[in-house]
Amino acid sequence: MTNNQQVDLPYFDQLFADFAKGNTEAIKAFGLHVHWGYWANPALANGSVDDFATAAENLTRRVCDAGGAAHGQSILDCGCGFGGTIASLSDRFHHLQLTGVNIDNRQLERARDQVKPRNHNQIKFVQGDACQLSFADNSFDLVLAVECIFHFPSRERFFQEAWRVLKPGGKLAICDFVPQDFVSPLMKIGGTLLRPVIGNTYGQVDSTFTLSAYRQLAKNTGFKSLIEEDITANTIPTYPLLRRLQTETGNPESANSTFVTEIISRLGILRYLILSFQK
Ligand SMILES: C[S@@+](CC[C@H](N)C(=O)[O-])C[C@H]1O[C@@H](n2cnc3c(N)ncnc32)[C@H](O)[C@@H]1O
Repeated sequence: MTNNQQVDLPYFDQLFADFAKGNTEAIKAFGLHVHWGYWANPALANGSVDDFATAAENLTRRVCDAGGAAHGQSILDCGCGFGGTIASLSDRFHHLQLTGVNIDNRQLERARDQVKPRNHNQIKFVQGDACQLSFADNSFDLVLAVECIFHFPSRERFFQEAWRVLKPGGKLAICDFVPQDFVSPLMKIGGTLLRPVIGNTYGQVDSTFTLSAYRQLAKNTGFKSLIEEDITANTIPTYPLLRRLQTETGNPESANSTFVTEIISRLGILRYLILSFQK
């Protein structure tokens, strides 16, 4: 695949525009990782972009640890953004074969520019759809999808692809916004009603997949469920910071979408989960 695939990610368009204007807060907050932060003690969050960048790195580490990342592994990061997770792995471990896949070539260009291998690691960034991977069967020890599975065309197809490319005993680790079972039907209706608002900021998003649905999907695919960790409370300081940045860059509509997500997260209706599975 040589051309950029059709992909609707308005928040990345906004980030590229902010970076081009030299918005240092946007670059510090989202220049490497583009996901929520993890605060071990949310009461200590101070609302600065430096604090947020540290929390974003900590979230990545937790997902990689849930997947059992270790020296010498072959690791595939699907929906790799600007390469933040690959950079984190390359800093922490040695003799890794690291591959980042992203549907959006613009992001890969930034990833290639800023993420260079360290510690005898090797890094490749490849354009492609996480649901149609171009890699051989049984080729990775760990497959990651950090805060991106809700964009994929199908969770079922992604799990089947992850299963196919993982070696026997290999692991899949993801993080996702997961609604409580009892609100899933409402989320489907709400998602349809709010699609114009949320879609204008985040593009195509499906946040209706429940934990029971994940358990069933894992079973159907052949995975064993390993870790189910609810880190909603640890991610909450993301919201005020994100709303501030969105407001300051003249995006009140995005700040409103973020506010809706914050409310349903604070109420525990939408949970932020780290999940891992073994082949
Ligand atoms: C919220 S960002 C997360 C980026 C990165 N994982 C991180 O944590 O910094 C979502 C990512 O999913 C990517 N993406 C969306 N649909 C995809 C698909 N079908 N295949 C691969 N990547 C996809 C987007 O381009 C974007 O990089």
